Amino acid sequence: CGIVAYIGNKQAYPIILKGLKRLEYRGYDSAGVALLNSGLNVYKKKGKVADLEETLVGKDLHANIGIGHTRWATHGEPCDRNAHPHVSENGKLAMIHNGIIENYNQLKGELQKKGYTFTSDTDTEVLLKFIEDIQQNNNCSLEEAVRIALKRVVGAYVIILIDQDNPDTLIAARKGSPLVIGIGKNRDEHFLASDASPIIEYTKTVVYVNDYELAIIKPDELILKNLGNEKITPFVQQLDLELAAIEKGGYDHFMLKEIFEQPSTVFDCLRGRVDAANGTITMAGVEANIDILKNAPRILIIACGTSWHAGLLAEYIFEELCRTPVEVEYASEFRYRNPIVNKGDVIIAVSQSGETADTLVAIEKAKEQGALIFGIVNVVGSSIARVSQAGAYTHAGPEIGVASTKAFTAQLAVLTIIALKLGYEKGTLDNKRFLHLMNELQDIPEKIPAALNQAEHVKQLAYKYKDARDFLYLGRGYNFPIALEGALKLKEISYIHAEGYPAAEMKHGPIALVDENLPVVFIATKDSYHEKIISNIQEIKARKGKVIAVITEGDDVIAKMADDVIEVPAADELVAPMLSVIPMQLLAYYIGVAKGLDVDKPRNLAKSVTVE
Ligand code: G6P
Repeated sequence: CGIVAYIGNKQAYPIILKGLKRLEYRGYDSAGVALLNSGLNVYKKKGKVADLEETLVGKDLHANIGIGHTRWATHGEPCDRNAHPHVSENGKLAMIHNGIIENYNQLKGELQKKGYTFTSDTDTEVLLKFIEDIQQNNNCSLEEAVRIALKRVVGAYVIILIDQDNPDTLIAARKGSPLVIGIGKNRDEHFLASDASPIIEYTKTVVYVNDYELAIIKPDELILKNLGNEKITPFVQQLDLELAAIEKGGYDHFMLKEIFEQPSTVFDCLRGRVDAANGTITMAGVEANIDILKNAPRILIIACGTSWHAGLLAEYIFEELCRTPVEVEYASEFRYRNPIVNKGDVIIAVSQSGETADTLVAIEKAKEQGALIFGIVNVVGSSIARVSQAGAYTHAGPEIGVASTKAFTAQLAVLTIIALKLGYEKGTLDNKRFLHLMNELQDIPEKIPAALNQAEHVKQLAYKYKDARDFLYLGRGYNFPIALEGALKLKEISYIHAEGYPAAEMKHGPIALVDENLPVVFIATKDSYHEKIISNIQEIKARKGKVIAVITEGDDVIAKMADDVIEVPAADELVAPMLSVIPMQLLAYYIGVAKGLDVDKPRNLAKSVTVE
């Protein structure tokens, strides 16, 4: 979910509305605002922020204080009733919440016995009424009631409350979900949001609220306290982010803009780190922990979604270059089983947002067990970045499209840099190959434009294949994770069922699906598996499947066999996936567009999954 709040002397509604639109990538099944003027007015609506905006046309929305929310449903279906903000029994308090209250059922039971009624199915309404009950019973301030309530709450949250009886104060608190507070230029207003994107237009001076902190915010004052009611000095920072970075800049969709940004994002990621001319790699996080990394008996990579695919590819690269055993784990599985983590193990957490709840909790658990946590994160200052003891940012800039694209190639670049450095330091990678691979890596940003030049051709293919019911994506070796990623992208953006599989394993099941209606995408660039994958293409052709092959420029052999080909420049097989994934991104994008879908905000998905 995304949350925004404002307190100051400007009109709150336009600021909140714009902020919600910027945060919509975090969830978009319903939206709402609460504005405090002479009274408390709450408006909410199922659907996107624009639907809410439409229903509010003509209403008196004057207020200098307000809160807003865009939701990704956890408890209760998306509908007006379950949308935030929620309102207290006495109608005086309104609250927005991002996260999950795990013991809400128990709290709800207690409140129902006391006569409280509930208009929604949400855990949020329960928490709010729990706070209200504490305030009434103890005859205390709202701040105090929030503090007491949060000591009993199990779960993850960021909450913001407004109170009709205290119209110059916002109360906010966080545990596990992100919250940034922007301090107005004249120090007479404050902006609150899930990330900095709704704020940077107004101020770059911000405070990131930490877990178990409570903020009491007035137009000209920001007080931070811990749950023990002790004041904390806020750590004020300057944002290094430009407004242009979070706007579409002439592209139809953020996803397309982000796909096309990849030459520069990969370049930014390598800059100052890889110096092929001098044969050096600089990466502070690796250097500071080089002994631990060199001696690690095992590396565990923990991630979700697209980041997990980057992790899977890294397994191939690390084992090849560093000869360290690597396991790649879905964070959600890892955290709930009883995994073996030994002191000395290195955990690499890969996350674009740095806020994915499963990944965050998984690394917290592994940290307790004595592993070194190395974070590979895109969002600076995010929760995973802060929990990690070492790490490297991917420097891909804000990624707004819900389906991850540029963050993925940046993750691959960082993971490859680490593997090169570690392999070199361990002596498992000889100098000649080290230099060769560094050059190959450094050339990637210059080769990406050639892959992007296929966009028009891919668009035509999208129209040709858009009505297929299923797709199969096949690859081997370094391109196997790209097959998984290609299938994931298509599912996310076009709602076409797609499966990614190791090309050879296809014989053990998916081949039964092949007929003249099934498009099969082969990621078949020239690598050590080339002859093998050609055989797999023949196997599909023999069963009349339609073959779309991603090939290395000038590969006539596959070009003759396949129904359609998409060319990418030649590169060493270890770095080639950063090129072969680009047609996968474009294909999913153009099929989604051809089907008239909202590619930046596909149904049911959210960009940052801050609930488990
Ligand atoms: C969500 C997003 C995916 C992303 C995954 C992991 O499902 O829609 O695009 O890959 O979360 O997110 P993270 O921020 O941890 O990389």
